[in-house]
Amino acid sequence: MKTATALAHPNIAFIKYWGNRDSRLRLPWNDSISMNLEELVTRTRVTFDETLSSDVLILNGIEMEGTARTRVSALLDETRRLARLDAFARVESENNFPTGAGIASSASAFAALALAASAAAGLSLPEPALSRLARLGSGSACRSVPGGFTFWQKGKGDADSYAFSLAPASHWALRDCIAVINAAHKPTGSSMGHRLADTSPLQSARLADAPRRVERCRRAISTRDFEMLAEVAEEDSNLMHAVMMTSTPPLFYWTPATLRVMKAVRAWRSEGIPAFYTIDAGPNVHVICPRESSEDIASRLRAVEGVSRVLLASVGGPARLEERL
Ligand code: DP6
Repeated sequence: MKTATALAHPNIAFIKYWGNRDSRLRLPWNDSISMNLEELVTRTRVTFDETLSSDVLILNGIEMEGTARTRVSALLDETRRLARLDAFARVESENNFPTGAGIASSASAFAALALAASAAAGLSLPEPALSRLARLGSGSACRSVPGGFTFWQKGKGDADSYAFSLAPASHWALRDCIAVINAAHKPTGSSMGHRLADTSPLQSARLADAPRRVERCRRAISTRDFEMLAEVAEEDSNLMHAVMMTSTPPLFYWTPATLRVMKAVRAWRSEGIPAFYTIDAGPNVHVICPRESSEDIASRLRAVEGVSRVLLASVGGPARLEERL
């Protein structure tokens, strides 16, 4: 039996990935940029076991079948191909953050899985190859492989579509204050959303302007220009949601409380409090601010009607191996 355990953090994108030019390989239409979230962790153990007759997936103690397991098996198949291995695997994965709170776990899950599976299979993949492997499970997972602030280059094809670090976590002491908002219904998942992106007439406008936003975001990170990052990240999030809302069928992820938080954050910023919002495929609002303002921002967010709790995360490190037996 070959076993390995890996840890990875989810990430929050400042320049979003939305829409694929190849949905099977998860080759995106545009480059994207994110930061890892240190305090949120997925821990995954992979064991290749000759006695198994299929892959087994246990998520937070519960055995999963259906699409969750199929996605995991697809990544394991690629690992087996690379390592010339036949055995099925047992995958046990746990998140330290609340499931059902709408914090997407696919990025940390597939980053941890790619690292644990490749190590268990005896491979020692360089970071780009590992990031590329994670991308096959979930696009945003490739950005959780390197540390700190990371850049996913869309690439020309499968081999060069991976993420690398723009700056380590220590580069800039930002914090993500995640305003968790209760939603009546489970939102449409990202994979389905990506497939709808091209039905929006706004997607081509979003993509045409993406290189400008990407450059501004890179510059804002390298010079630690908070105001520039705030403007470009809010604009990019708004553009993605405009595409979502104008797809066929339309996707509306915001609730009234989501909009209340967005407006409050912009009002605080106009009063000189450094904070900006960015929103993924759900109702929660990620409010980014310098570390020294995070307690103040968190208590302000708790006072907004419809915010059920606030999770705090600082900039996170890379995916890493915990043990190798
Ligand atoms: C809105 O990476 O979750 O969070 O590749 O189908 O797994 P799949 O999609 P996923 O999409 C993330 C979309 C987003 C924006 C982002 O993180 O860039």
